[in-house]
Amino acid sequence: MCGIVAYLGDKQAYPILINGLRRLEYRGYDSAGVALLNEGALTIHKCQGKVSDLEAHVNGHGHQGTLGIGHTRWATHGPPNDINAHPHQSTSGDLALIHNGIIENYAPIKEELRSRGHVFHSDTDTEVLVHLIDDIQRSEGTDLAESVRLALESVVGAYAIVVLDRKNPDMMVAARKSSPLVIGIGEGGEHFIASDATPIVEHTRNVVYLEDGEIAVIDRQHGLKIRNIKNQVKTPFIQELELHLEALEKGGYEHFMLKEIHEQPRSIRDSLRGRLNTATGEVVLGGIKDYEQKFVQAKRILIVGCGTSWHAGLVGEYLFEELARIPVEVEYASEFRYRNPIIHEDDIVIAISQSGETADTLAAIELAKGRGATIIGICNVVGSSIARVTHAGSYTHAGPEIGVASTKAFTAQVTVLTLMALMIGHKRGTISGGRFHALLNELDAIPAKVEAVLRNEAQIKYIADIYKDSTNALYLGRGFSFPVALEGALKLKEISYVHAEGYPAAEMKHGPIALIDEEMPVFVIATKGPSYEKVVSNIQEVKARKGKVIAIVTEGDTVVQGLADHVIPIPETPEPLMPLLSVIPFQLISYHIAVMRGCNVDQPRNLAKSVTVE
Ligand code: G6P
Repeated sequence: MCGIVAYLGDKQAYPILINGLRRLEYRGYDSAGVALLNEGALTIHKCQGKVSDLEAHVNGHGHQGTLGIGHTRWATHGPPNDINAHPHQSTSGDLALIHNGIIENYAPIKEELRSRGHVFHSDTDTEVLVHLIDDIQRSEGTDLAESVRLALESVVGAYAIVVLDRKNPDMMVAARKSSPLVIGIGEGGEHFIASDATPIVEHTRNVVYLEDGEIAVIDRQHGLKIRNIKNQVKTPFIQELELHLEALEKGGYEHFMLKEIHEQPRSIRDSLRGRLNTATGEVVLGGIKDYEQKFVQAKRILIVGCGTSWHAGLVGEYLFEELARIPVEVEYASEFRYRNPIIHEDDIVIAISQSGETADTLAAIELAKGRGATIIGICNVVGSSIARVTHAGSYTHAGPEIGVASTKAFTAQVTVLTLMALMIGHKRGTISGGRFHALLNELDAIPAKVEAVLRNEAQIKYIADIYKDSTNALYLGRGFSFPVALEGALKLKEISYVHAEGYPAAEMKHGPIALIDEEMPVFVIATKGPSYEKVVSNIQEVKARKGKVIAIVTEGDTVVQGLADHVIPIPETPEPLMPLLSVIPFQLISYHIAVMRGCNVDQPRNLAKSVTVE
């Protein structure tokens, strides 16, 4: 979703802002803009489209200045067009502002400001902020920082903002509430601000994560000063970034998504490292140690997440039920937060989020926390909002995921859930010692088996070529493979814009079977396991209606080979670990179909990587 980058220093800001906006492209956006302050003049350039369109629009004019802000907008209030793009400017022309998030009470504020002579140009909620700050500056005679603080006192909603003032050419003011901001502290007094660390890492490793309700003032003379909305002074806590620049580059791959698919042997290994010890037969999850006992005694687990993280949660449901014998409910965070869910103090709530910033997941956590439950996070981004508001948690260590369609984050989430379920099951005595040790060894072997699946890419690409023009697809699986069917269908939808649905294989008879004809590819997970024979029957049902079956099978399978149009063999592994392997061919199929259809794989239309609005 929207991205923020800002710079104050002695270098030219424009190239830094453009480069930063490119780093933020992965979040998903539909327009971009910059504002620069130079010799008392404030220049704003903005337009619909990509960062490259913005560059063409600027075309080498009016891009001077050592202080500037830049933004990528993902439309919420008003369509993506030049006027709605950020930065927005005050009627006086003095202030420029960029904003991530949503101002919920923008309508009454807008009305009031209009009556006071402010002229609005855009449909956005954001524009009220810049007029409101301007109004306060004029009526109260306060400086920029204090005017921002007073303005934010009357605002309801989520925001990360950065403001420039033509009258204060050596200063920028930033503030956050429920939408992240990172401040980079560079050499010789230069400062960067961004919505995540990706635009900062190539300039400095020293960062301060702004906390909710904090306002940062950066000026050339005094550097960084932080206050909160109640006007109390805060001491900036400088941390070293763990992120490395190479992780943000494509490393020779055509797309980030392909790179991330191929990184999975490594990312799964990293998620296991230091946690799984096959020699001692132990699983150690340091991040949840203090809550282990509560976890072991839990009567119920609630799992909340959105999108792919919700699918990982569904795998978690099967894992915890099977291995730890604890009832599990998996909830869409967006539904959970607006119901009146029954939450007990002895519930464990597992919140899963790659970005750690998803607005609905954050709100679901706050709700459950308020009702006394223990919240365990599974996040990929270190220091993210969800990682900070949960009681305890385990990072996934997948490394930055840039492709909008989640791949390595999913397998890392499932890896961590598997470790948790094994550890809790072992401590509860719900799995035998023999099975526990066997599963530890099998889990340890998964990265090498993922490598084996990836070696099959040429065959998967061949299948993708055959079905690239399909307009519909069905994905079927049973048991642990059902969430993988959902995830396979989601991947295809997200990046190739092909309509696809995932179903529990047996449910096919209750509706989707009506869709099957000789045009319809049906992707089936038919690996060896408790429901193998049942899935074989489902394949027969598809074939009887002339559907095309592409089956993921266990290596050496001959039965499905004789029935399906294509089989993709994957190595054998126990059923609870199968999602870690069976999802890989689906990721590759979607990727190759999307490339063949000419789609923008890493930045699919309308999608955002990190959904920071509800
Ligand atoms: C967006 C992304 C998905 C992701 C979902 C949840 O929709 O495009 O890939 O699964 O948000 O994000 P989270 O960061 O909470 O896992």
